Amino acid sequence: MEVSIIGSGTMATGITQVLCVNDQVTKINLIARNDNKALLAKAVCEKSISRLVRKGKLTEAQSINALEKIYPSSLLSSVIASDLVIEAVAEDFIIKMELFSELYNYVKGSTIIASNTSSLSITAFGSVLPNSKNVVGLHFFNPAPVMELVEIVVGHETSEDVVQYLKVFTQNLGKSPVVVQEAPGFVVNRMLIPMINEAVSILAEGIATAVDIDKAMKFGAHHPMGPLALADLIGNDVNLSIMETLYSETGDPKYRAHPLLRKMVRANHLGRKTKKGFFEY
Ligand code: 3HC
Repeated sequence: MEVSIIGSGTMATGITQVLCVNDQVTKINLIARNDNKALLAKAVCEKSISRLVRKGKLTEAQSINALEKIYPSSLLSSVIASDLVIEAVAEDFIIKMELFSELYNYVKGSTIIASNTSSLSITAFGSVLPNSKNVVGLHFFNPAPVMELVEIVVGHETSEDVVQYLKVFTQNLGKSPVVVQEAPGFVVNRMLIPMINEAVSILAEGIATAVDIDKAMKFGAHHPMGPLALADLIGNDVNLSIMETLYSETGDPKYRAHPLLRKMVRANHLGRKTKKGFFEY
């Protein structure tokens, strides 16, 4: 099958890496805002794939075959022959809606259009596409090559056929899918991001240092990494955006973003991607 992945960030490159080594996928159009970004995104995949070769998890021949499937592009029209499009651009409702409205011109009604959104409405995205029955959430977790879960998010119009198709597709990628009805934050982020927000509150109140907050959750709750290191891995801009969605969609004050999280974003302390967040990289 032919897949298009739109985006050039952590999730787009991670998903590309997962798909290119899989036999179900024969071609991937990796579509970014400009040629340079698309080429850089492919280079990121090349680096990860070469690490897998060094570790003996992939042969040289398998890696060449995987990378040959990836076609970087800056043209949205490259999606034209795709069976599946996966959007993984910035977590911003307006940006995504504009993208889907433009995509309307290039996709066939039979193409499945999936969004990797962390919390936004699949139903709204479907409303500007030719066939809302084929619009669905396909939410991978970071780092996509490592995390087993994929949330398949069912919008108001999403068809059962599409859900079943993606269940099989993701299982064949080696993932463990769960089906989730559309709701702000779906399942994981509705719990995980408020936990991170609470860790920010604990830090802001001076109850413990960032190192000790993380140590507490690693050794007291067996989390693989502490909530503040996880915040830096996800990106504080994404954490803030998800808190804003939870709050605006529900109106529930328990989802209020902590002012320190907002301040971190304003200071561009986004985490690993800017080399500074709750920790330095
Ligand atoms: N890309 C590819 N592979 C990676 C990776 C990355 N960015 N980071 C780590 N790995 C691989 C390593 O190569 C290693 O592979 P190996 O076992 O084959 O050698 C394996 O993962 C373990 O890595 P490390 O030994 O370096 O480190 P850890 O054992 O500490 O694991 C971790 C790192 C997998 C990130 C682990 O700490 C973890 O699971 N953390 C929690 C991550 C999490 O909760 N993610 C979800 C975030 S929420 C989200 O994504 C939703 C979004 O909408 C906000």
